[in-house]
Amino acid sequence: MGLKDLEEAYKIELEVNPSPWKYETFLSSFEVGHKGLICMHDSKIIGFLIFSPVNPEAHILSISVRTQMQSKGIGTLLLQSMLKQCKAMNYKKIFLEVRVSNTQAINFYEKFGFSKDAIRDNYYKDNSEDALLMSLPI
Ligand SMILES: CC(C)(COP(=O)(O)OP(=O)(O)OC[C@H]1O[C@@H](n2cnc3c(N)ncnc32)[C@H](O)[C@@H]1OP(=O)(O)O)[C@@H](O)C(=O)NCCC(=O)NCCS
Repeated sequence: MGLKDLEEAYKIELEVNPSPWKYETFLSSFEVGHKGLICMHDSKIIGFLIFSPVNPEAHILSISVRTQMQSKGIGTLLLQSMLKQCKAMNYKKIFLEVRVSNTQAINFYEKFGFSKDAIRDNYYKDNSEDALLMSLPI
């Protein structure tokens, strides 16, 4: 994902995230050195992944696939691509937080072998929902 892709990717953020990032957060995420991957179909962005690389760990900050394109393997392509890049850079661990109610995403991460490590109480400001902390050694 480059700067030119941000506006299009942000539309997906608005579409799938019940409590989306502000556009300014999206933009500043790049300015502080986070990395983004996109998946394209018919010249349109259909999914993206943003992660923060802090060797030896990488933190997944956001992964989203257009609603109509979900459950078709797009998220898998994005995560596989990230894992490949992180392994090539000799990273040792991937971690993330996910809403405890987001069973679709939790299933997704478990399929990749992520383990459920801890609960962070009242982590999400919008509804005080708890976060599940998950990680994967690579
Ligand atoms: C989570 C998300 C990125 C997964 O991407 P995807 O392209 O839909 O996932 P894939 O098609 O690659 O599916 C891989 C696995 O995820 C799980 N999964 C996908 N869709 C699912 C659904 N509707 N219900 C339950 N599990 C599901 C399954 O384990 C699936 O493996 P399978 O196909 O062998 O059953 C995507 O659904 C999404 O954008 N969700 C909304 C945003 C979000 O919640 N992001 C995560 C925040 S932490």
